Amino acid sequence: MENKKITVVGSINMDLVTSTKRVPVLGETVLGESFHTIPGGKGANQAVAAARLGADTTLIGCVGDDTFGKDLLKHLASQGIRTPYVKPITYSTTGIASITISNGENHIIVVPGANFQVTPEYVAEHEDVIASSDILLLQLEIPIESVEKAVELAKKHGVKVILNPAPIQPLSKDLMKKVDYFTPNEYEQQVLLESHEWTNEEREELLAKCIITKGSKGITFTSGGKVIEIPSYKVEVVDTTGAGDSFNGGLAYALNKGIAMVEACKFANAVAALSVTKLGAQSGMPTLAEVEEFLQTRDEAK
Ligand code: RIB
Repeated sequence: MENKKITVVGSINMDLVTSTKRVPVLGETVLGESFHTIPGGKGANQAVAAARLGADTTLIGCVGDDTFGKDLLKHLASQGIRTPYVKPITYSTTGIASITISNGENHIIVVPGANFQVTPEYVAEHEDVIASSDILLLQLEIPIESVEKAVELAKKHGVKVILNPAPIQPLSKDLMKKVDYFTPNEYEQQVLLESHEWTNEEREELLAKCIITKGSKGITFTSGGKVIEIPSYKVEVVDTTGAGDSFNGGLAYALNKGIAMVEACKFANAVAALSVTKLGAQSGMPTLAEVEEFLQTRDEAK
């Protein structure tokens, strides 16, 4: 059977991860415990999550012409991701995320660098790649106009769109109507709902597209007017960075395989659960065999 295609348009970062017992207050210096340079970026994370599961995954994005960019390109290719559309940009720095982890919680500052060279024109150059995809997966770490262009092209070619609205920012009504599924957390969901005036019908339409991720409290979505709750799996948490991206990669994989929403969310929950058991956004992202083994053990344990 043909392996259906997932295309991710989005950010690629090098994560600069510091672990510390305590986060300093303003003006204070503390001694941290460890420092790691780990591949990240919401777009790259989603792509790695999908590719590790065995999805035919293409990433459209940009890196800088620096060491981080070269390392990340090699890394992405080593994960089985199609990378010909990841462009190194001359005189630009690769996106970075400065991440501080303390007691399992994280603070993140992103400096987009080359990610902001993923322009609408650059996206439009790859219309054929989007057109030949089955699912387009997006987040909001590239310019919003580029997200809009990618969604416009996907809709033109009948491609399903999943948008993780993170980091949250105002979205146009037009964009919100075109997206097939949103995967906000509770706060992002609230911002989406409050960003425009909606008729009852429009509001219901929007709610029906939202798969709300609530961390350790699981997932909620609405189906046929009924609220469906899917609990998360309890695991030993090392680092929650990238859990949402893992969920999105897992969801795209499962929906692309034709798996129904409830089972697809359970599957994506398992992908996210396994991802938080290791330090770094991508380090814990599982293979399909690992997810299947995990789900089997959990089902037997019930
Ligand atoms: O979602 C986690 C990601 O957000 C990190 O990998 C970091 O790069 C930031 O983009």
